[in-house]
Amino acid sequence: MVKVAIMGYGTIGSGVAEILEKNRAQLAKAAGQEVELKYVLDLRDFPGSPVEDKVVHDFQIIAQDPEVQVVVETMGGLNPSYPFVKECLLAGKHVATSNKALVAAYGTELLKIAREKQVNFLFEASVGGGIPIIRPMYRCLMGEEIQEITGILNGTTNYILTKMDREGASFESALKEAQELGYAERNPEADVEGYDTCRKIAILTAMATGKEVNYEDIATEGITKIQAVDFRYAEKLGASVKLFGSSRMNGDQVHAWVAPVMVGKAHPLYSVSDVFNGILVRGNMLGETMYYGSGAGKLPTASAVVADIVEAAQNLDQNVKLGWNGERLQIADPGTSCHRYFVRIAGEMAKKLPQVQDVFGVVEAVALEGQPEFAVLTEQMSQAQFAEKAETFDAACREAQEAGILKWIRAEL
Ligand code: HSE
Repeated sequence: MVKVAIMGYGTIGSGVAEILEKNRAQLAKAAGQEVELKYVLDLRDFPGSPVEDKVVHDFQIIAQDPEVQVVVETMGGLNPSYPFVKECLLAGKHVATSNKALVAAYGTELLKIAREKQVNFLFEASVGGGIPIIRPMYRCLMGEEIQEITGILNGTTNYILTKMDREGASFESALKEAQELGYAERNPEADVEGYDTCRKIAILTAMATGKEVNYEDIATEGITKIQAVDFRYAEKLGASVKLFGSSRMNGDQVHAWVAPVMVGKAHPLYSVSDVFNGILVRGNMLGETMYYGSGAGKLPTASAVVADIVEAAQNLDQNVKLGWNGERLQIADPGTSCHRYFVRIAGEMAKKLPQVQDVFGVVEAVALEGQPEFAVLTEQMSQAQFAEKAETFDAACREAQEAGILKWIRAEL
């Protein structure tokens, strides 16, 4: 029998306890032995709950109990999750976590300790909620050279953008609903400013390259500046606005970024809506693969944690080869990253388009009725080139005492 402890009985931790109970027979079959929950560590008591007699408040009870072989970390944040996880690994216990902040910040060190101690540090649930993505990367795709990972990696922002797109909902009301449904981070700034997506794409990039990624090196922009009018343009263009986390590998050059993107209907991620996440992975031999499912929420995320418990139970005496080493990946200068751009420009389209074309070359233009502005889709160019052209255009507008570019985002259509 494998004995498990859960640290943190919140949304995900309670989901893990529920699945361990409900799928007991299935898990015993998969793990080759019974999997039993021994402790739940939390500051609170849970009288009347199914785990009431398993609750402990002292971490050392878990750390010092040799019977506990697998520890689940679902506390979130870095403190005390980092010192607790580290101590568990050093004590020779396997750890499964859903905590992307922990993996992104301390993954290198925790993976190293796990290798040295011949245990496993597993984090399937840290990216994409219930979607299998970490395991496919270290198992199914291990013979591929990964060329691109682009994902809708945050359920909360995807939920918000979908509501704004389909129902014309305000940003605030959609966020409130996402929070009520248990999708959002404790501090929703992490979702809407793109920080959560940033950590997830950092983890996937490290998985793909085998090198450590400093998530702070990834240029990150969230969705707070996306407005209802952007969706009106999107509709006209047969597109929608999605928050992408992306890594594109071209030899030694790796571009990684998080930003809202105007996404066309032909893009494989266009139809990923609501709380769902989708991840496109392109390998040099395989071409494109897509991974899709519930990106947040209690049972989907807990399901991924439980799969890691089984992985640990199947490998109690050995370290499964996965993750990355301590060599730091160099993220390429964002100025050299190439895109098309969706650009909103103040003024009448009929008057200003020739000037726009002078600067940007061939563009596709679109206007909304009753709006003192229009939008264009540019050709593909580097961000540095785009910035230069945008500056030239704005300077000409200023000279003519007119307003220039109102906003721009990347476009993939
Ligand atoms: N807040 C995260 C999201 C939770 O909305 O995707 C899952 O990581």
